[in-house]
Amino acid sequence: MLKPLRKAVLPVAGLGTRFLPATKVMPKEMLTVVDRPLIQYAVDEARAAGIEQFCLVTGRGKSILVEHFDLAYELERILEERGRQRELAALRADMLPPGMVVSTRQQTPLGLGHAIWCARHFIQDDPFAILLPDDLMLCPVPCMQQLAEAYRETGGNVVAIEEVPRERVSRYGVIDVERDMGRLVSIKGLVEKPPIDQAPSNLTIIGRYVLMPEVIGHLARMEKGAGGEIQLTDGMARLIGSQPFHGLRYQGRRFDCGDKAGFLEAQIAFALARPDIAPAMREILARYA
Ligand code: UTP
Repeated sequence: MLKPLRKAVLPVAGLGTRFLPATKVMPKEMLTVVDRPLIQYAVDEARAAGIEQFCLVTGRGKSILVEHFDLAYELERILEERGRQRELAALRADMLPPGMVVSTRQQTPLGLGHAIWCARHFIQDDPFAILLPDDLMLCPVPCMQQLAEAYRETGGNVVAIEEVPRERVSRYGVIDVERDMGRLVSIKGLVEKPPIDQAPSNLTIIGRYVLMPEVIGHLARMEKGAGGEIQLTDGMARLIGSQPFHGLRYQGRRFDCGDKAGFLEAQIAFALARPDIAPAMREILARYA
């Protein structure tokens, strides 16, 4: 019987160098799109997929991300005194139930694979989701929910994939297709940041995964891959052959909020998707047309 997907790991220990100086003190995942920090979008998306337990892999200066899910006692009292029920309800809806969020430390940012390995005691022997909060998703059905549904269909490992122009493949983890079934693709190989002429396809992995706990054993080898980092892609590649491994062409759009232009586009797209702010946003955009 398939184990239910209840756990999610959110690695947030990266340095965010592409966003300096904004990220010198403030974690990238606290950057705000419209009025919510990136971390909140990721947690909401996971909850919509039935995820109940969260592990944030943090590093130095990242504690504010854990605090974001804490009770803001003074703030709540003042809002209550002032009868600001709507704001209070919104704050409370964003909280996680007691005991449902833990954090672990990645003292040195040795790579995404190493960050996931740092969550091994949380993962134990359960299937788990990974969400990279800087990939912000705007989807008709939340992206992680699409992945969770695919996992119930196929079992094993499922990663969200998208097509990119060939000249951009070297920035991503790229899949080697065994069988293309349209929405789902079975995978026979994975390679991180290949040179363009060595990329097995132009189907790339985005920051949403459902993985089996056995990946931890492979990450424990601490083998350095592309860029001298311990790569999650290399650990995942070692699962192929012993477990089902699929890619899902998710429906929706991804915004790379680790990148300045992607982050700015996300502001516009998310503002236009919000009925409360879309009319004002359209007026503003018209001034720059
Ligand atoms: P990125 O590749 O975006 O790296 O990491 P980064 O350090 O956050 O940003 P730049 O490239 O320097 O601007 C992808 C995800 O993996 C996490 C990051 O926090 C981000 O969510 N990560 C990466 C870790 O948690 N630890 C690492 O050692 C590396």
